[in-house]
Amino acid sequence: MENTLRYILLVTCSLCAIHSSFMDSSWSTKKHPEWKKLILTHHWPVTVCKMAEQKCQEIPNYWTLHGLWTDRSQMCNNSWHFDYDEIKDMLADMNKWWPDVLHPNGSQLWKHEWQKHGTCAATLPCLNTQHKYFSKGLALYASVNLNSALEKFGIKPANTYKVEEIENAVLNVYGVVAKIQCLPPQQGEDVQILGQIEICFTKDFNLQNCTVEPEDELLLTKKTNMKWRVSYEELHVCDKLLNTYYPPVQ
Ligand SMILES: *[C@@H]1O[C@H](CO)[C@@H](O)[C@H](O)[C@H]1NC(C)=O
Ligand SMILES: *[C@@H]1O[C@H](CO)[C@@H](O)[C@H](O)[C@H]1NC(C)=O
Ligand SMILES: *[C@@H]1O[C@H](CO)[C@@H](O)[C@H](O)[C@H]1NC(C)=O
Repeated sequence: MENTLRYILLVTCSLCAIHSSFMDSSWSTKKHPEWKKLILTHHWPVTVCKMAEQKCQEIPNYWTLHGLWTDRSQMCNNSWHFDYDEIKDMLADMNKWWPDVLHPNGSQLWKHEWQKHGTCAATLPCLNTQHKYFSKGLALYASVNLNSALEKFGIKPANTYKVEEIENAVLNVYGVVAKIQCLPPQQGEDVQILGQIEICFTKDFNLQNCTVEPEDELLLTKKTNMKWRVSYEELHVCDKLLNTYYPPVQ
């Protein structure tokens, strides 16, 4: 499974690998440190709605795509505006797999993701248009297929787990360590709520561990946190000692 996945990802974007090092040297600036890792971020819609304290209509019963991020840099080109028309041919897939959970029209989320992350990812030739960026996000999401990976290991909504169980399921299927984030326990409770799962890739789209290197930790703390409607700052790496609740769609 793991090898098949790697193979697919390699074949679909082998061109990127060849050109990426060349592109880096001409694109990267001091203001935006060279990024090293792509992060495919999945979120659990029930938790997203809970965080926004919003009654959502028709909550998807599967992990949806939050974004395709780069580590180390954000907001790399403020003059490169989001263009809804560029992704018109993918709207059906975007709405299904990369929806704005809080709003029926996903364009606010996509605009945010493009400005904050896409403009940085665009240093790779195979991500250097909005169409390429969003379609690559969808393609990675489909090949990773996190939903079936979790199911295969019996990780199902309405149950409580130790975060290691979820981490091990991911490790078993993909051979890499994911970053798993939770909403900390609400007052008077002792259970954290599963919210986000990040799967990491190298610049040539091979899976890699999501472990944070010390130098990156420093950069992360310096970053200005731009808030979206949902405050994702409320999510933390899940506490290994606490129980983790995987809330069901009501
Ligand atoms: C930023 O985006 C604009 C609009 O696409 C483009 O013309 C410009 O070259 C980009 N700047 C950099 C530094 O990539
Ligand atoms: C969603 O919003 C965009 C940008 O505001 C708009 O162009 C588009 O028509 C909207 N789509 C739907 C289905 O309402
Ligand atoms: C990723 O982490 C796992 C578990 O800690 C380890 O066995 C593996 O060697 C790591 N892989 C890489 C490429 O560092």
